[in-house]
Formats: sequence, C-alpha cells, structure tokens
Amino acid sequence: MNRIIRYLLSLATAVVLSLSSLSAQGRSASSFAAGNGTFLLDGEPFVIKSAELHYPRIPREYWEHRIEMCRALGMNTVCLCVFWNIHEQREGEFDFTGQNDVAAFCRLAQKHGMYVIVRPGPYICAEWEMGGLPWWLLKKKDIRLREQDEYFMERVRLFEEQVGEQLADLTVQRGGPIIMVQVENEYGSYGEDKAYVGAIRDCLRSVWGDEVTLFQCDWASNFTKNGLDDLLWTMNFGTGANIDKQFERLRQLRPESPLMCSEFWSGWFDKWGARHETRPAEKMVAGIDEMLSKGISFSLYMTHGGTSFGHWAGANSPGYAPDVTSYDYDAPINEYGAATPKYHELRALLQRYSDRPLPAVPRAPAPLIAVPEFELTEFAPLTAGIRHERESRTLLTMEDLDMGWGSVLYETTLPDVPRPSMLTLAEAHDYAQVFVDDVYVGSVDRVRKETSVALPPVRRGQTLRILVEATGRINFGRAIKDYKGITERVTIATEQDGHALTYDLHGWRIMGIEDSYESAVQALATAPQERAAGEATKSRYGAEGYYRGHFTLRRTGDTFLNLEAFGKGQVYVNGYAVGRFWNIGPQQTLYVPGCWLRRGRNEVVVLDVVGPAGRPTCFGQDHPELDKLNRTDRSADAARLARLAEVNAALTPAHCVAEAVLAPAAGWQTVATDRRARGRYLALECRSTHDGAPVALAELYVQTDGQRQSREPWTLHYATSADATRNRTGDKVFDLQESTYWQAADATMPQVLVIDLGAETDVTAVELLPRAEAGAPGFVRDVKIYVY
Ligand code: GLA
Ligand code: CA
Repeated sequence: MNRIIRYLLSLATAVVLSLSSLSAQGRSASSFAAGNGTFLLDGEPFVIKSAELHYPRIPREYWEHRIEMCRALGMNTVCLCVFWNIHEQREGEFDFTGQNDVAAFCRLAQKHGMYVIVRPGPYICAEWEMGGLPWWLLKKKDIRLREQDEYFMERVRLFEEQVGEQLADLTVQRGGPIIMVQVENEYGSYGEDKAYVGAIRDCLRSVWGDEVTLFQCDWASNFTKNGLDDLLWTMNFGTGANIDKQFERLRQLRPESPLMCSEFWSGWFDKWGARHETRPAEKMVAGIDEMLSKGISFSLYMTHGGTSFGHWAGANSPGYAPDVTSYDYDAPINEYGAATPKYHELRALLQRYSDRPLPAVPRAPAPLIAVPEFELTEFAPLTAGIRHERESRTLLTMEDLDMGWGSVLYETTLPDVPRPSMLTLAEAHDYAQVFVDDVYVGSVDRVRKETSVALPPVRRGQTLRILVEATGRINFGRAIKDYKGITERVTIATEQDGHALTYDLHGWRIMGIEDSYESAVQALATAPQERAAGEATKSRYGAEGYYRGHFTLRRTGDTFLNLEAFGKGQVYVNGYAVGRFWNIGPQQTLYVPGCWLRRGRNEVVVLDVVGPAGRPTCFGQDHPELDKLNRTDRSADAARLARLAEVNAALTPAHCVAEAVLAPAAGWQTVATDRRARGRYLALECRSTHDGAPVALAELYVQTDGQRQSREPWTLHYATSADATRNRTGDKVFDLQESTYWQAADATMPQVLVIDLGAETDVTAVELLPRAEAGAPGFVRDVKIYVY
C-alpha cells in the first residue's frame, strides 16, 4: 500500500517538475513570488516583459491575433485592466460574456504561452470613462469615490467578488497564467489614504487567496504616500525617463525589492482639439534596453492600445479634455493591429534578450479596405430619440434622469429681456448648444472652459432650448465625480438703466436622449424623414438627429470611416457602437474592424448632435486619419497677443517675488518667495536654461505656507511660445502628468509663462519639476517669479 502511494507521489512530482519547466502554456500549479532583487517563477529568476493591451479595446474576434503579435514581439506576459463599468452597466447586473469575457482573454494568453498581470482596480484610469467606475455610483450624491465611503466599498466588494469568480482560479498557483494582481491604481495622484488602499488590498486578498502576488504602482515622486508594507511596489514612467533616477528612492527604501516599471509609456493618448501624440521609437527602445540590461522588469503601456469603442473614452483633468476614440497611443502595434516601425525596432531588441528565435509576426486577420462615398439619406430628428422626460423647477442632471450617456435637452420659456444679454450655464457638461425658438445662438464648450453665450433681445414666452451632449467622464484626479448635463444653474445677465439685472431661470422640461443603437433605430422607425440632398440647416434647430445609410461590400476588411462631413456624435455600424466623432479633430476617421462588417449590405447610423455642414455623406478609407485639426484656436492666439502688453506691464520689480538660480539636478525644486505675495496671476520669466536648449518644464505647484494649492481652477494665461505641433503647450505644467511638459518653440530668451490661478492666492513658494529625461533637457537656470 505504502509503496503504491509513494510511487503515485513520485509520479505526480515528476509530472509537476516536467510541466513547470514549460512556459505559461498548459502548466499545472506553479509558483511566482518577489524574491531578493528578482521575481521568482518556480524558484527561478524571471524578468517580466509585459505587453499591456485591453480586451474591450479589441474586438473579440481579434483577441488572439493581438496576443500573438505581443508574443512575436518578444513579450512573455500580457497586462490588462478589468473595466468595472463594462461589466456592471446597471447596478447589480454583471456581464462577463462575449466581448466582456476577460477569463477567455486570459486563457487565450495562456494558450500562447503568455503570463498575465491583472489590474482589477476598482479604479483603473486608462483614459476610460470615469476611470472604470460605473456612472450609477453618482446617483448617491454625496458618494466619496475611491475612499472608504460605505456604499462605494460595498459595491467594490461585490464587483471584486465577481472578478474573483471569473479569474481567481487562473493564478499560476492554480495552474493558470496570472502571476500578479494590482491593488488600486496610482493612488498618489488622487490622495493620501493608506487605510483605503489597505481596505482594497484586503478585499482583493480575500477574493484572490493568500498565494497571489499583490502589488501597487505609482510614480517615483509619490509612491511612499500610500505604499503599504506588505505589497510589492512598482513604478510608472514614460519613454525618455531617467531610469536610475526613477528607481533611486525605491532602491534606498527596499534594496532587496525586484524592480519593475509597471507602466512604461510607449506613446500617449490624444484629446479632441489637440494634435496627435507621438513618442520616438529610439527612446522607447533605449529605455527598455537599459531596463533589461539591469534585470528590471517592465510592462509596456500600451503595446497595443486599440480603440475606445462606443462611449467608453474618458476625459483628462485638470480642466476638461475628452479623449478621442482611437487609443492608438503611438504604440508598437497600432490601433488596427499592425506592426509599426516601433514594433520592429523593439522586436529586434527583444530578440537579443531571448534565448530562442521569436515566433514569426502573424498575418493580419483582415485586409484593409476602402468604401466608396455614400449618402446617409434616412433621417430622424433628435427629439425622436427622447426616452426620458421630466418637468422640474430646478435643473436635473443626466444621472437624475437615470441615464448614463447621451444628451439632455433643457427647455424653458424666456422672460422679457429687451436688450442683448449674457446667458450663463454654470457647468454645462460637456458641449451645449443654445437655441432661442429654433434659431441657433451659440455653443458653450467645456473643453474651452466656456460658460456663456450672448443672447439677442428676447420676448416673454419665447422658448429657450439648451442641448447638452456628454462626452466621457473624467478619468483622472479628483474631478472623476463628473455629473453630466447642466449641473448648476442657468442665468441671464443684463443691464437696465445702469443696474445689473440677473434672471435665474426656473421651470424646465428636461428630456434625455440615450446614446444607444436601439434608441437610434427606434427613432428612425418612428419618425423617418427623407432629407433633401444638400440641405444645410446648421443655423437652425433641426439638423441634429439620426442619419442612416448603407454600403455594399464584396469582401470584408478593416476600414476607417471618414466622418468629416458630420458635426459631433456617435456612429453605429451594423449595430456596433464604433465610437465618437467630432470634426474639430484630430481624429477624423473611426476604425471599423472587418469582423463587424459583412458581405452585402452594411448599415451605418450616425447620431449627430450638431448636424452635418453639407451633404450627410461618409466613406471608408484604407488608412486612419488621426491628426487633422479643423479647429485652429485662432481665438487663443489672438488672446495671447492681446495679453502680451498686459503681461509685459505686469512684470515689474514691484511684482517680482523671487529671483533664483535653479540647480541642474532632476527632481522637484522649491523656490521660496522673498515675501508673502498675493495675486491672481503667477508669472515665470525663464531667462536661461542649463543646456541652452529651449525652455522645458514638466510640472509646477504653488505653495502657501508649505501647502501645495489645488490646481483645479488654473488656466494658462500666457506663454511667450510653445512647441504646439508636439502638444508641448503651457498647460502641461499643471496637467498632473510628470511625463508631459511645456516647451518653448525655440531657444530664444526670455520665455514667460503666466498662469491664471483662478482666484487671489497667497504665494510663499513655487515648486518646479524638470523633464524626467536624463540631464533634464531644457531645465531653467535663471528664473524670476512674479505674482500680481
Ligand atoms: C497612468 C494610468 C494609466 C493611464 C496612463 C496614461 O499611468 O495608470 O491607466 O491613464 O497614466 O496613459
Ligand atoms: Ca506635465
């Protein structure tokens, strides 16, 4: 008997041993842990070469292809977030099927020999609507997101339990591919709250079990704020960063910790109204080379960005900067899954760090095709899509209507205002168009921080209509509590006999228009209208609505639908929500994967909240257009010129509060002012740089008595120049991102940057952060600081 058991045991051990020498593919239980200075996989040193890619951003039919692309690139792991708000679109209704089948994605990775890192949030950032949090959390008005709010934590637990049911059996310890699980995300740029991060850790620990490696990631500058003793710490930083510097503090604090850059940014995301972002391939490859030569693990964010289909793109903050639909990210594998030059350069490097020849680059699953121009002749007005309607004395938000996405139409009757006036919408989220009766009077764009439009004289009884379309909810910083629609009040301000008069508008009819395919086809079925070709009604209410057209294909393939003829809205192809468009650019085409097309007739429905300028046509092209801006901010240029004289006049010795010579060293530097100064504007006069390069500055804070002041109300008032073609605009010094920076257009000196602090502020010190690249290029040497 004993002999039989011993024999069986030895057989089992032999099987385990032989299996554990394989890759992630088809293994039985295995081990993964953080060892001394290195990760240990089955007890052997292991360097993680991870490719971040997101299952909702890739059509399920292409998942396998994209994973194989990562494998052929030389990666051994994939890293993914779990997107709470796609899995629980309505409170308590969970969906992990089809496109949402994250477990299937992990199994596919395993099939191709890849390990998996899971980032289940609950908050993930990722340029995704509300950073992955479901909008319905906002129905609890006083909710404290990402804090120990009782309701928030209860919903987090329920969600994480569901994730655990899907994935917890897929850890390496249980024979699956998952090696590590992340706790929260970059909490340091949100707050300081170890108790909350600890509660998330406990929740994940109880769901995932004791063996799995839990880690937390943050920036080198702030990871100690929330670093928990029992979690592994990893750093996030981008292409070009000075790598030794990034790990310097971690090496001091935990000399034995394995090192990992858990988000090495290959490129960057794009926002509506700003140029397409790119980052040089050589620098990305050099950074990875340096890390690998030092045995540092990394995850390349993004290796394949894909597409934020439908209404899932988020928005950045401070300010309001909605992200475009494409999440190409200038990543090595582009939006539609093709290898870029960056891919091939990186692959050559990773081949050098691999002891076996890398697998061949797989063929694309679909060809690229063009679709000739066609007209969307069917039309239904936007009002045919009203699905919610309420009468209310005060304004209601979209969430009050129990709606997550779409537009809200607010209607009221006007008082007598017989002279021109200003209509102010205190917080219209996000793009409001104002009509008096049927006449368009102007728009209020949150992107541009607009709040008012000029009204012509109006009579009592005329109808005021305000159509507010929501773009993505903010996914970064404190502003993630981002209600949609008009969130405060609407007032009309005018003057009569030298007295200021303000009308607070009350008594609203509030109508919700959902952004969904079902709603669109219902509208088209109930209120169809043939539109006369060439009808351009942009100046009147009525061009907003649903447009439908068809095209025929002999063979399917990936295409890029050009929407430039339309205004702003959403597109559905064969019922698939392919994403938002906005003709201001920079993105002009939407990626339509061939697997969503069919031979024969294909349907395109466009929900345009602005209306096309001319004929409602579109076409498919065989390449994307991601960098065509149609709205140049002439007004911003004009404002800058107009401010030049004012700024020059303000830079007087009386307003100068500090004159400093900054050290060439990287990292934050603080300049104390020589007195306590109070003012609305802060000006930096940069008089020289250490290396003679054009001035560059990554971040800036103002302190009052040692306390950093909130930058939420800040706007850029003036910059002598900026390398705008590469998006290195002045507002980059307060965008919370250490990897983005203001850079002057050339090396001319001085360069002046003036920030409107939003309100009178006491300034006792200014903190400055140079670029993260080695040598801190363009860092300011001589600087004068003014407050006025
Ligand atoms: C941070 C977040 C990511 C993403 C990147 C920018 O590092 O953790 O989710 O938002 O910034 O692309
Ligand atoms: Ca920045």
